[in-house]
Amino acid sequence: MHALDSSVATDPAAAEGGPEPAGVAVPRHVAIIMDGNGRWAEARGLPRTEGHRRGVEAVRRAVKAATESGVAYLTIYSFSSENWARPADEVSYLMGLLKLFIRRDLAELHRNGVRVRVMGERAGLAPDIKELLLEAEQRTAGNSGLTLVVAFNYGARQEIVAAMRRLAAQVAAGELAPGDIDGDAVAGALQTAGIPDPDLIIRTSGEQRLSNFLLWQAAYSEFVFLPVLWPDFDAASFSAALREYARRQRRFGGVSARTG
Ligand code: IPE
Ligand code: IPE
Ligand code: MG
Repeated sequence: MHALDSSVATDPAAAEGGPEPAGVAVPRHVAIIMDGNGRWAEARGLPRTEGHRRGVEAVRRAVKAATESGVAYLTIYSFSSENWARPADEVSYLMGLLKLFIRRDLAELHRNGVRVRVMGERAGLAPDIKELLLEAEQRTAGNSGLTLVVAFNYGARQEIVAAMRRLAAQVAAGELAPGDIDGDAVAGALQTAGIPDPDLIIRTSGEQRLSNFLLWQAAYSEFVFLPVLWPDFDAASFSAALREYARRQRRFGGVSARTG
């Protein structure tokens, strides 16, 4: 983990406040593991659900910050395949919150040119949720601003298994030779097809793990772990993560490449 307040700037000009070198700056795709709602609430003697409710406000701040920073894709991990293991009342609160968010915020997202994409398993979701997710995607499909990818009932291993099945079915049907399965074929069979890999993955709450998020896509992502609990996430948190990202040197297995 790189401490946020560390002064390990890799570029002397940036450290001195000089102009940033070309290519540095804004990640094209930021993915966020929004964590710490429960702890935020528990620290205040409130029910965990109150942390989730306040977390929605942090989502709004994140969308605004991403848009204003010039990020093209923002992926938010909202509900994992494993989150069904939580108490039933918490799960149903989270389902209700998703509905509320779409009903309340879709019009404004649309007005702001946001294109919504949803990934995750839809089969097990209630019909009204499926309908709302579809509406969010269809209504905003023609927008050209920020792409907001909502990972809901999402698990990366499940996503990879589904992709393998899809490719296997094509092989069985004689449409694809095993030798033709390459990285692009796998990427194209994932739900993120057409979306660039995340440059930066932020996780709040201090936990340092992926929790079944974007396992394939994160191969060369930069990670920033913020000590802030998700309901407290704001524009300053987002900027701190982007600044940390700009200090990183991405090499992709080579010898030297700048971020961006
Ligand atoms: C993140 O906050 C929200 C979801 C996973 C849905 P948590 O609910 O995981 O909060 P903590 O980790 O228990 O504090
Ligand atoms: C990951 O957080 C899932 C989401 C943020 C939606 P969790 O709180 O579920 O992860 P673990 O269980 O601590 O790894
Ligand atoms: Mg958690």
